[in-house]
Amino acid sequence: MRNLETIFPTSEQIPMQFLPNPFPYRQTRYLINGELREWKGNFFSVQSPVFVERDNSADAFIGEYPDMGSSQAMEALEAAIAAYDHGNGEWPSMKVEERIACVRKFLLLMTEQREQVVNLLMWEIGKSRKDSEKEFDRTVVYINDTIEALKQLDRTSSRFTISQNIIAQIRRAPLGVVLCMGPFNYPLNETFTTLIPALIMGNCIIFKPPKLGVLLFSPLLEAFRSAFPKGVINTVYGRGENVATPLMQSGKIDVFAFIGSSRVADILKKEHPHPHRLKSVLGLDAKNPAIILKDADLENTVKECVTGALSFNGQRCTALKILFVHESIADRFQQMMAAEVEKLVIGMPWDDGVGITPLPESGKAEFLTSLIQDATDKGAVVLNEHGGQNYRSLFFPAVMSGITPEMKLYTQEQFGPIVPIVTYKDIEEPLQYVVNSNYGQQAAIFGKNPDEIARLIDVLVNQVCRVNVNAQCQRGPDDFPFTGRKDSAEQTLSVSDALRVFSIRTLVATKEDNTNKEIIRQILKDDKSNFLNTDFIL
Ligand code: G3H
Repeated sequence: MRNLETIFPTSEQIPMQFLPNPFPYRQTRYLINGELREWKGNFFSVQSPVFVERDNSADAFIGEYPDMGSSQAMEALEAAIAAYDHGNGEWPSMKVEERIACVRKFLLLMTEQREQVVNLLMWEIGKSRKDSEKEFDRTVVYINDTIEALKQLDRTSSRFTISQNIIAQIRRAPLGVVLCMGPFNYPLNETFTTLIPALIMGNCIIFKPPKLGVLLFSPLLEAFRSAFPKGVINTVYGRGENVATPLMQSGKIDVFAFIGSSRVADILKKEHPHPHRLKSVLGLDAKNPAIILKDADLENTVKECVTGALSFNGQRCTALKILFVHESIADRFQQMMAAEVEKLVIGMPWDDGVGITPLPESGKAEFLTSLIQDATDKGAVVLNEHGGQNYRSLFFPAVMSGITPEMKLYTQEQFGPIVPIVTYKDIEEPLQYVVNSNYGQQAAIFGKNPDEIARLIDVLVNQVCRVNVNAQCQRGPDDFPFTGRKDSAEQTLSVSDALRVFSIRTLVATKEDNTNKEIIRQILKDDKSNFLNTDFIL
């Protein structure tokens, strides 16, 4: 492994093509009511996890963005409410085909900004170039798939249904004003997996970027402005308590779409004065376990566990955050894990073949070190030579054996590069772990015996929402449902589920007599209604 103290670049060593332009990147504008307004107040300074070495110090400043407060949040709210206009605004009452055209226009403009967004992802959250490009491209595919899924949904709603002499047309209608907040680990992708379906279903949006990964939205503001009618999408920046709290306290947010911690979700939900009116769409905490059975194919299991636990430095909600290995294969498995993890390349996000990159959260290395210390104090062991070594925002992954329930790593979500391993004798031990856990997102089973795997599947499917067999946990493919039980989620997201989550089934019904049939005929013939029509989107 390279000496961590020599990894951060001097300014001459930074490849120019991977620098955001301009650098530092000062975001001075914000989007409210269709206007890109110039911010005159204080700014937040953005510190990168990628330090640049200067003579005797290191610089992390890469830009700034507006530090807004409650009055700007209220302006954004008023703009969204006016655009929605109780469902009578241009956007919520627009034909589906026209809304799709706006999203297509946005997508076209967004793709022009790929390089800039990818570079900002690398500098703001330290994500490797390969993964940053993947995040951008996956988002483009997600938007295209959303358009196709909506067309499909609309086609099935374009027919009338007749039952018990009642003739009806059942469609999906928007819900109102959506507050959309994404996470720092997938700031673009996961934000857009709620924002785009919410938009395309006719809702009006207030969007607050995550605490880290803010500047990367700046190149998209003009695309938002020019693709959508005024007030349909509005941006707010600043501390949650200054902008998100007053928005919730207003009672005028209809949907809270949030991917982040359950702690923050709970705080914000409780601020809403009419909880029954608020629909929450949440992706939250997780501590996904892998259960490694005694007959597991160790080569494949180690490969899946290394990527499952450590891709993007373990900063994925779906990461494998604890491994349970049967005692009969524990030594061999642990040795192989330690050896594979030692091979990971630590470096800068743009380095070819890099596996471990700088961590963006301030104080993260100290937090991870304290988890390791707590575990080693209670008898656990760091198995790999460089495990836990750190310098500034760099932290080399630690594979830890001998984890027991008394240690913080047993229950606490590390959200970083530590791989805790528990050795079990009886399969009831990992199963009880899952039952007693506060989380319920996914689990992975590694083994070969169909009887044993089937039994585990049947227990686990009522505890978590996805059971992966001989494969790591993950969200994708994006047309699969993504959700969780307990503290892990509220509602289900997938390309098609998200369209349902951000809308409500609404119908127009009448008794099947000649007068009513004639009324419907006239409405359809002269294309009088946007809702009641039989247009078939091609
Ligand atoms: O942070 C949680 C993400 O949804 C994980 O997505 O499994 O595709 O990396 P992924």
